[in-house]
Amino acid sequence: MLESIQKADEFVRLHAREVNPEFLPKYHVTPPVGWINDPNGFCHWRGQYHMFCQFYPYRPVWGPMHWGHWVSRDLVRWDWVGVALAPDSPFDDQGCFSGTALPDGDRLILMYTGVHKNADGVSVQEQCIAETTDGVHFTKWACNPVIGAKDLPEGSSPRDFRDPKIMRTDAGYRAIVANKGETNGRQLSFSSSDLKHWTCDGVFLEGIGDMPECPDYFELDGKNVMITCAIGMQPDGLRFPGTQPVVYITGRESDGRLVPEVLEAVDHGREFYAPETVLTPDGRRVIVGWLNMWGCETPTQKLGHGWCGMYTIPRELSVRGGYLYQKPLEELKSLRGEEFGVRGVQVDGEAEIDGLNGRHYELTLDITPTEGNVEIRLMRTGGEYFAVRYNPATRIIECDRTRGGHKLGDENTGDTGAIMRAEVPGARRDLHLDIFVDTCSVEVFVNGGAATLSMLNYPKGGAQGISFAGRFAIDELNKWELA
Ligand code: FRU
Repeated sequence: MLESIQKADEFVRLHAREVNPEFLPKYHVTPPVGWINDPNGFCHWRGQYHMFCQFYPYRPVWGPMHWGHWVSRDLVRWDWVGVALAPDSPFDDQGCFSGTALPDGDRLILMYTGVHKNADGVSVQEQCIAETTDGVHFTKWACNPVIGAKDLPEGSSPRDFRDPKIMRTDAGYRAIVANKGETNGRQLSFSSSDLKHWTCDGVFLEGIGDMPECPDYFELDGKNVMITCAIGMQPDGLRFPGTQPVVYITGRESDGRLVPEVLEAVDHGREFYAPETVLTPDGRRVIVGWLNMWGCETPTQKLGHGWCGMYTIPRELSVRGGYLYQKPLEELKSLRGEEFGVRGVQVDGEAEIDGLNGRHYELTLDITPTEGNVEIRLMRTGGEYFAVRYNPATRIIECDRTRGGHKLGDENTGDTGAIMRAEVPGARRDLHLDIFVDTCSVEVFVNGGAATLSMLNYPKGGAQGISFAGRFAIDELNKWELA
């Protein structure tokens, strides 16, 4: 049976209540049922935020991609609207892949990748448009694909041509699209005056791995910023640990090309991928990523919980000295419930603090290291815990889920990503941490967001414990329940 929006919506309606709630987070976005990967079409239009997702409702695994849809007034509380796109047309019947949104007056434009088989039976990726005027129902344009294989310069593969980032320009519209060329991956820039006819203006960025997918591109604090998922990038110690890091490039645009000045990883945890950003009406650039990773079978899949995939908390971006900083979105404070605070705690060995525990919270810590490692144990049940560890001598912070509970990671490569590390930039001796824990995830913001680590962790025990190990001073600690 051909896929359809009605069929998918009906499935969600009937089966959402069957999802096993054990590992459902309290304040992170998850699918109503089934699978999500990349956030898509993140935008603000007519007084509301819209966020879409790569969605497969029928099983908690990747399948023919639909777009699911939420709306929000504050980026924190999201309402599921329904399925926006299904792979139901000749130009996208193998999947509606990732893309972005462009508010355009009374209409909201979505540009996404339609995957289908060409006349030779080869699966190709081309760029399509759908629009809405009521914010619920989307109409795919009859002239799709609007940017097709025929528009590609010589030596480009239409099999890897995806994830358009659509923007407005003085002259009209622009789309930056990831593509595999004969010799290397790159992003191509296209322009149009009517959204229907597009011309390739050439290579926008290259030399970032074999396939720089999911481009997001914007201006921030006087820099041009590209965020992209650099498949096939050469691993480089702690800087780019895997072969598929999400990187940012800050630089400037010259003659229609991005000239990189700084290239670094966006996040150093194991589960952070395919982020998109939105510009808020008051001018903040906010990012949300998929808090999961390819090749990682999660316990909710193995245990038959009926769902898989979640998004990070929204984070406000800034650029200082060419480097990207991320801080938790201000509006998250509206989730704060019961507060716990202490000052001047000396940790010597293993320690707990009376009354300090939880499973869905924000924890901020100001720490002065004395000697040796600083260790914070979260989601703890006896000997089971998730550790955040800092070595003041090497300035390396790590997240360690070796004792975290259920195992997860890439079963094909054996890379469980159990320990992820980041070098803490700057010269500060003290350490400031802002940590978000929510049922099965930990997001760590180090020293005002100079580094972040996003990780999944699925405890087997009740995991309410929080404790400390090492010799150091906690100058100040605050914890808020979040719900
Ligand atoms: C990134 C990605 C995109 C693609 C989508 C398919 O995670 O591979 O490049 O459009 O997922 O679901």
